[in-house]
Amino acid sequence: MLTQSIHDLRINQLGSTSAPACLGLAERAFGKDSPQFQAVRDFTKEKRAGYVATIRRFVVGFIVYDNRGRDTAQILSLAVHKSDRRQGIGGLLLDRLIRLPRREIVVRVDERNLDAQLFLRVQGFRAVEIEHGTPEFYLFKRSKVGVASTATEVNTEIHTVGARQ
Ligand SMILES: CC(C)(COP(=O)(O)OP(=O)(O)OC[C@H]1O[C@@H](n2cnc3c(N)ncnc32)[C@H](O)[C@@H]1OP(=O)(O)O)[C@@H](O)C(=O)NCCC(=O)NCCS
Repeated sequence: MLTQSIHDLRINQLGSTSAPACLGLAERAFGKDSPQFQAVRDFTKEKRAGYVATIRRFVVGFIVYDNRGRDTAQILSLAVHKSDRRQGIGGLLLDRLIRLPRREIVVRVDERNLDAQLFLRVQGFRAVEIEHGTPEFYLFKRSKVGVASTATEVNTEIHTVGARQ
């Protein structure tokens, strides 16, 4: 769908009109029991905020983040519709967050989610912490100054690939 209509891409603040479509997208990308799905479902309740990407009024992606920290923004959920990936939409959504006056952005990523890890690395994030468990999670961080270069980077071995109907 997007291939012919990238010029029609709009990014706006996430509001109640687009929230149901974002929720559908979150369910397909992460599943209903996931924290990423719950973050979208509860985005109005918890001082969260977000942006939605639409093409001709169809929701093709979204980002939801924690709006409480003064220095750090935490990405709680980010997804682009499967058939609209690799066309820059995820990067544009992230860019809205990067433009906010915060020093750093963090996001937790499942060790099996290779797509997200590759995406985040290209966007200047580095894995700085491992949460051990099954599965393991990596904490990725992007600092405005030096792009987390002073933090000890965790050696994330990317082994497996971890989701529009
Ligand atoms: C991660 C995600 C949001 C990326 O969205 P996207 O719109 O495809 O990302 P972009 O098109 O902006 O990608 C920018 C760059 O990141 C890298 N990248 C993104 N996805 C990649 C992949 N699957 N494999 C390799 N590199 C990838 C590429 O360098 C890409 O540039 P290129 O297409 O010119 O090579 C999307 O894959 C997604 O929704 N995944 C499922 C949900 C998810 O895992 N969310 C967690 C996000 S932290």
